[in-house]
Amino acid sequence: DDAFGRALAAFRAGDPILVHDFDDREGETDIIYPAHSVAAADVARLRNDAGGLVCAAVSDAAAEAMNLPFLGSEIDHPAAADHELAYDDRSSFSLPVNYRETFTGITDDDRALTITKLSEAADAAVDGEYDADDFAADFRTPGHVTLLRGAPGLLDDRRGHTELGLALADEAGIGPAVVVCEMLDDESGAALPTAAAREYAERRGFPFLDGDSIVDSLA
Ligand code: 5RP
Ligand code: CA
Ligand code: ZN
Repeated sequence: DDAFGRALAAFRAGDPILVHDFDDREGETDIIYPAHSVAAADVARLRNDAGGLVCAAVSDAAAEAMNLPFLGSEIDHPAAADHELAYDDRSSFSLPVNYRETFTGITDDDRALTITKLSEAADAAVDGEYDADDFAADFRTPGHVTLLRGAPGLLDDRRGHTELGLALADEAGIGPAVVVCEMLDDESGAALPTAAAREYAERRGFPFLDGDSIVDSLA
């Protein structure tokens, strides 16, 4: 079963995949979409079937062009002084944003609009046609879609869902923006067990990959 090839094909077709990171990292499975194809029904799937935080990851190059910082380094509050995480050196959180033409920003329509506009912005940014002022004209922060900034060397630098998703997008030859959301267990509230995430993927016909297989396939 060429799950890696099917995952690249899914991304090219605008379809989601499931990615489990590593048992010794978060141990979580995220649903990951190419950002350009996310419609309101896809946001509904993320909040109903995944249930975690809906985030949009953009590449380091796109984030740099739009001057999107890591949130932790921008906040002047003692809570931001110590970023210690149990599972990685740092988080990839950047600004939480809304496209300016949304209303509250949280509805499925509003989040899908923010996400597709972020995808267009990231594409233009890596082409040198979109900067921080363009971003500020189009988006406001705080907002309801949390941006994640990919590490510059992707999987050589960091192996979160942020980089796993962006590395797959890069390999698929699509734009540098993906949407991730953790799968949680409705009963326990904990991370959905990997076997249940695999079953969900099979039921829906979505490719399922784990971090090790992605690292191996891209080596
Ligand atoms: C945002 C997160 C998730 O874990 C998401 O998968 C992105 O983070 P990471 O790259 O650290 O896996 O924290 O909800
Ligand atoms: Ca749910
Ligand atoms: Zn994650």
